[in-house]
Parts: sequence; C-alpha cells; structure tokens
Amino acid sequence: MRSRQSVISRSTTEQRRSRLWLLVTMPVLLLLPACEGSPSALDPGGPGAGRIAGLWWLLLILATIVAVVTFSLLAIALWRSRQSRTVDKPLGMNGEHFTILAGAIIPAVILIVITVVTLDAMADLDEPPDEPAHVVEVIGWMWWWEVRYPGTDVVTANEIHIPAGESVQVVLSAADVIHSFWVPQIAGKIDMFPGSDNTTWIKVDEPGIYRGQCAEFCGLQHTFMAKLLIVHEPEDYLAWLEREALPAVEPSTPEQQRGQEVFMENQCLFCHAIRGTEAAGVVGPDLTHVMSRQTLGAATIPNSVGNIAAWTADPHDFKPGVKMPAVNFGGDDFEALIAYLVSLE
Ligand code: CUA
Repeated sequence: MRSRQSVISRSTTEQRRSRLWLLVTMPVLLLLPACEGSPSALDPGGPGAGRIAGLWWLLLILATIVAVVTFSLLAIALWRSRQSRTVDKPLGMNGEHFTILAGAIIPAVILIVITVVTLDAMADLDEPPDEPAHVVEVIGWMWWWEVRYPGTDVVTANEIHIPAGESVQVVLSAADVIHSFWVPQIAGKIDMFPGSDNTTWIKVDEPGIYRGQCAEFCGLQHTFMAKLLIVHEPEDYLAWLEREALPAVEPSTPEQQRGQEVFMENQCLFCHAIRGTEAAGVVGPDLTHVMSRQTLGAATIPNSVGNIAAWTADPHDFKPGVKMPAVNFGGDDFEALIAYLVSLE
C-alpha cells in the first residue's frame, strides 16, 4: 500500500516538475521558429534601422535595471517582514525621502532621458542622411506590391531594387485599403493610404536581399503580402534598371506565339500589362519581365517554370482569396500560355 502511494506521489511530483519545466520553456520554444531565418529589426542593415535598434536596446537596458532594482527591493521587504513581523526597522533612509526619490524623481529622470533620445531619433529618421539620388514609388494592393521608377518605364512587382550606400526616397500609397511598408532590417513601418502619398527614405549599407512584410492588416492574405528589397552594387543597379526598362521580348517559337495570342484573346490583358504588346491592364502585376523576378504571389512561392504553371492554373491553391481567377483553358492553349509567360525574362 505504502509503495503504491509513494509511486503515485512520485509520479505527481514528476508531472508537476514537467509542467513547470514546460511553463518555463514554452515561451522560448514559441519564439524559436519565429526567429529562425526571419528578418530581425535587431540586425540592422542601414542607418535608419540602426537608429531604431539603438532605441530598442536603450529601452531594454533601462527596463531591465528598473525591474531588477524593484524586484530586489520587494524581495528584501518580504524577507525582512518574515524575519521580524512586529519590528518595523527602516533601511536607513527616511521612508518619505525614499518614496519621493524612487517613486517620482528617478522615474521622471528615466522618462525625460527616453523622451529626449526618442525625439532626437524621430528627427533623424524624418530626413535621409544625404540627398536621395533615386526615387521609387511603391503602391500597396490586396495583396501585392506595385513598384514604379519615376522618369523611366520600369514597373515591377514585389521586388524593390535599389543601389547600396545611397539614400533612396520611397513614395508610398495604396490602391484599395490601408497597407504598411516595412523592411525590418532597413526601416520602420510607414502606413500606405489610398488617395494620399506618404514619403520615407531607405539607405542600405551592403548589397543583399532583405525581406519585407505588409505591417497593417489588410485582409485575408495580409500574411502573404511580402516583398524583397534587392540591393545591388550601384553599377549593377543601373544595369538592372536599363534592362528592366526594355519592352518584353518578342515570342521566338510558334508555341510562344500561340501563347501570346491566348494571353491577348482572353481576359489576361485586362489585368496585366506586358510592355511592347497591347496588354496594358493595371490591376495585376506587370508581367513584362516576370521571369526576372525571384518569387510569385508577393514572395509566397519561388519563381520557376513549374510554379508559374501551377500558380496560373489555380492561384487560390497558394493564396485563397487572391483576385486572380484560376485559368482553365484547354491543354495546348494552357501550355502555350505558360511557354509565353516563361519567355518573359
Ligand atoms: Cu497589405 Cu497587410
């Protein structure tokens, strides 16, 4: 009987211990997948995000000091009250003075420091560190990004190409609902409104690819409204811009020619533009150089021949609720359409 009881009580203790262990580790476990491979605002790639990260660390350090001091005092108070319940021995400082110092003066100094540093950072973030030599227009759509380069014919989607080491002015707006521009490693969030422009700047130190995300809930596929900020060496950027400004290549095989006819004869051209052809739709991404892009569906899936075919056949498989309808032409026409699309490099 006794041994059975001890087994029961041991298993209850183990259960309690494992529950406690789970309670302690769960928040960390929950955070891990979110951290892995995700862009972090604490890994800044430019002066704007660097300033924001600096503020974050300052707040964390101050909050940690306040928490450690407060909980230490609380622990001392509890311990002392257990030692001698009846005797009220002050710590050596007049209680009233201590309350004024710790309850009013120190918090006021901390808040003033935070306010001054924050206002200084806000003023710095308002203006680019140097005169922007480039302008990019970004327009939010449900659920993708249109990207235009004023002064050129370049229109692309879901990728923002810029040169490294140079300030770029970004003019933001939205076509339908409110979206928000955010590239965590590069800049803070700026809302994008229909019917009015918001302006910000970005500057990136090193070439590379930085993932961005819509930061304002904008409907069913808000989560899959991502973008890539692709940062080139300055000379490579100019070469990219020149290439992207060219009209689409002409179909070079009979199958691609048939594919172009399929595109123009059906509803594709009412939504998409292909520069150099009669297709001039504006409610879907410009497809002039679609195969030069790295992803499809606003960084939802990698761009490849297979994925272009799968996406075209039924984009709702990847992004339920997306505006593009499934394309269900007959076998040869569908294959010809895909052959044409994947020729648009
Ligand atoms: Cu667009 Cu959220």
